[in-house]
Amino acid sequence: MAQNLQRPYGTEDVTPDRIRKWHTVEQVVSQNAEAFGFREIRIPTFENTDLFMRSVGETTDVVQKEMYTVSAKQSTFTLRPEGTAGVMRSFLQNGLLNEALPIKVYYILSCFRHERPQAGRLREFHQFGIEMAGSASPYADAEVISLAKSIIDQLGLKNIELNLNSIGCPKCRANYHLALKEYFSTRKDELCETCLTRLERNPMRLLDCKSEICSEIAKDAPLIIDYLCDECAEHFEQLKSILCAMDIDFKVNPKIVRGLDYYTRTVFEFVTTDIGAQGTICGGGRYDGLIEELGGKATPSLGFAMGLERLIMTMENQGCDFIEEKKCDLYICPMGEKAYTEAAKIAYKMRSIGHEVAFDTMNRGLKAQMKYANKIGAKYVVVLGDNEIESGFAKLKNMASGEQFDISLDLSSENGFVDSFVNIYYSEAFGSLE
Ligand code: HAM
Repeated sequence: MAQNLQRPYGTEDVTPDRIRKWHTVEQVVSQNAEAFGFREIRIPTFENTDLFMRSVGETTDVVQKEMYTVSAKQSTFTLRPEGTAGVMRSFLQNGLLNEALPIKVYYILSCFRHERPQAGRLREFHQFGIEMAGSASPYADAEVISLAKSIIDQLGLKNIELNLNSIGCPKCRANYHLALKEYFSTRKDELCETCLTRLERNPMRLLDCKSEICSEIAKDAPLIIDYLCDECAEHFEQLKSILCAMDIDFKVNPKIVRGLDYYTRTVFEFVTTDIGAQGTICGGGRYDGLIEELGGKATPSLGFAMGLERLIMTMENQGCDFIEEKKCDLYICPMGEKAYTEAAKIAYKMRSIGHEVAFDTMNRGLKAQMKYANKIGAKYVVVLGDNEIESGFAKLKNMASGEQFDISLDLSSENGFVDSFVNIYYSEAFGSLE
């Protein structure tokens, strides 16, 4: 295929042979979210660019280097690099914050970041995320963290470490920013261009610069945890004791600052070493100032997002179980014109009661049809030829056991095809229905 017709670098197809892995993860994350009282929300794929500048932050890598932005007519839009900003916009625009708080939502969506692709890092990737607005309590932090933990456990993932930190509030940041400025100013000559402007405008962003030299310098920078105000320190202590009481293991990692500007207080990441350098499978935290920043009333909020590709990669590498692919219940092999019409009628009827049914549509010989039925894993096969059509009876074959059953082709009567098939199917699967 010509290069210019291929899928863009850093994007992936999910072909039908892999889809059950996605379904497994999607099922587990949404069932868990609902068990914790979160409801699904869906938002647009693109938003006004200003939304991300205001929320994610103008000096972040995401906004400065990674956004896919398009101008259309007089407006500038950006493909969402993450879900939180759009969800908060939606809360405000739809008046959802005027309803009973806390409001708790979850989403599964695609995100777009122009990063250098590598294992676990794509330009289009998918996130499962949750957001909870209205509660400042550390119990809300614990609720959100325990939801992530519950998902990780139910997917069967092992060796996942929870890293926890507090990055304080604007009050703690004032002193911390001064300390950072002082520290980085001594190595100013070595910093990258972007970090030089960050030093003036938002020194915390120097801590997650991906350039080799800046990240080396950042290793010995002062830590925010040493600058927390009393309220933030107290919040962090409470959260840690709640997690201990819940038996959720964590490690305080004072180096975690997260790459998005909206975070305050609690930040956390679940990390694995089993998928290479991009091992953060989940990241989140509090963002108590974001809703106000976007024009709403001050509303303490928090959430997290998990990268679905990274979850699936980790599950594959750790040999976790995925749900089985659904197999075809009945394959009909028609031989001759009349049989094709009969096959179409039977298939239509059986599908309407929920069975997966297929029949030949390529005019193949019986041998080729049986081969295909085997390949798609059909549980039962029925051959319809002139004799069967004439007599009104056929043989239904269980492909696994080879056992054959007489079955009437009559679709209109009781004890006809539908009843007989259902009886055989369920009594073989679960024992007799009587
Ligand atoms: P984030 O850490 O930027 O946070 O992304 C969350 C997760 O998305 C990461 O932990 C990772 O698993 C996955 N991810 C990020 N970038 C890529 C990529 N290029 N390729 C593959 N996977 C990727 C957020 O996006 C926040 N909105 C999370 C949040 C929600 N915080 C509060 N609420």
